[in-house]
Parts: sequence; structure tokens; C-alpha cells
Amino acid sequence: MTAKIIDGKEISAKIRKELEQEVSALTEAGIKPGLAVILVGNNQASRTYVTSKQKSCKAIGMKSLLIELPEDVEEQILLNKIAELNSQNDIHGILVQLPLPPHISEEKVIETISPSKDVDGFHPVNIGKMMTGQDTFLPCTPFGVMQMLKHEQIAVAGKHAVIVGRSNIVGKPAGQLLLNENATVTYCHSKTPDLATFTKKADILVAAVGRAKMITADYIKDGAVVIDVGMNRDENGKLCGDVDFEQAAPKAGFITPVPGGVGPMTITMLLYNTVKSAKNVLN
Ligand code: GUN
Repeated sequence: MTAKIIDGKEISAKIRKELEQEVSALTEAGIKPGLAVILVGNNQASRTYVTSKQKSCKAIGMKSLLIELPEDVEEQILLNKIAELNSQNDIHGILVQLPLPPHISEEKVIETISPSKDVDGFHPVNIGKMMTGQDTFLPCTPFGVMQMLKHEQIAVAGKHAVIVGRSNIVGKPAGQLLLNENATVTYCHSKTPDLATFTKKADILVAAVGRAKMITADYIKDGAVVIDVGMNRDENGKLCGDVDFEQAAPKAGFITPVPGGVGPMTITMLLYNTVKSAKNVLN
């Protein structure tokens, strides 16, 4: 078997086109969707992500506000800024780029963002709603994964999904969203012995560990759907995922490439959540 490549750029472009129309209609109704992004310090990777988020907002006609704070900013100043944005009518989404410097509590920061503007879907209230299957903002990367499966008309109910990685941002919510769609879910992580015995049973394999090309052919069942959330550099400094694409593609049924797979979907779902938040103002 040679896998069908799931093109995240193409799926993103389709969703963004629909969002652009919604943004235009909302703007005409006097509610231009607005996203505020807070960047603390000078982490180069974070700056690149934030720039990309801003550009994507503007490209579909949304308002984008960047707030930059120095590395040594007092925690309270950041919390006050979030509180100010919570009460600002022209801002529908607030995102604080992670990671934060060690003197700032990520938990406090996330819990200060109003759940109604938490377009990252990280607030415990929104995580609780996701777990109980209520309508809410879903975390952007796993939400993007679910959209990719939907777009490819890949049935999830009754399938065995194996998640490798248990981060709060990707692994845990990815498993929960698959469970919500009636998959049987297994979580694997760094303490899982003999990882391949689990991954080889996966109909849907989600790799979110952050280790370059660690999922080789031996980890994959013939015909499996392989979703690669990794974003690493290989030994030559080239961008690559957690999956060894060359080895996996001939074995899998579907596979996402890196770059051009899950990555573009993450920002698209952030735009989606911000537009959803703006629409909530109307309701
Ligand atoms: N850092 C890496 N990924 C993310 C994300 O999805 N949201 C935020 N806020 N920070 C991140």
C-alpha cells in the first residue's frame, strides 16, 4: 500500500476561504473578529509562530493585536493586561504564546483568560466542556487533526486510535476528541514499555512526542491512518515530523506530511475559534 497524503495546506485553504466570508459578514454587522496575541520575551520560535498567526488573521480580514512584554515582566502586569483584554469589546480571542518564562505561572495566566475568549481552548472550564462533549473552543492542533480526518471522510467510530504523547496541548485532547467520536483510545508516552506493540495495533496513529522520525515502519500497521504532529529538525537541520515519512508512507493508508500537514491546520482552527467567539456576541 502507498498512503494517500493528507494535504493540510489544501484543507486549510478551503476552511480559511469559508472563514473569510464569515469575517466579511460579521464586519458588515459591526463585529470585526479580533485576536489579541501576547508574546513574552524573545524566544525566536515563539516569535515566528506569533508572526504567522498575525499574518493569517489579517489575510482573512480579521483584526490582529500584538502585545509584546519583556522577558522579565512581572506576572501581575501580564495578568492585568489579560484582564484588560477580557473587557475589551473589539477583542474576541486572547492567546498568550507558550512557553512563558519560569517566573510566570502558566496555570494562573490561562485561568485569567476569560473562558469566553480562550480561543486556544486551554482554560480548565473549556477543557471540562470538551471532556463532557459540550460545545466549546477546542484546542487548535487536535481540532485541526479531527478536521483532517473529517475532510478525508475517515470514519473514527469503532476504530482503535493510539496517541503517542500526553501533553495538555496535543496528546490528551487529541485522545479525548477521538473518544468523543467513539474511537477506542490508547495513550502511550515516554514510560510506555515496548511502544511498538501498542502502535502496531492502531487504526489511527497520532504521533505527538517531539522526537525526530522515531515512528519507523515497525511501529505501523498496514493501512493505518498516520497523523504526524511533530515539528523537529533532522540530522541535516531539515524540518521533519515524529514519523519517518519515507518508511511510513509505503505502509500507511493515509499520512500527513511535515511540513504541510497538521501545522497549517493549527492556525486555521485558531482563526475558526476566534470567528466562533465573535459570532457568540450576536447570540
Ligand atoms: N505554543 C506552542 N503551541 C501553542 C499553542 O497552540 N498555543 C499557545 N498559546 N502557545 C503555544
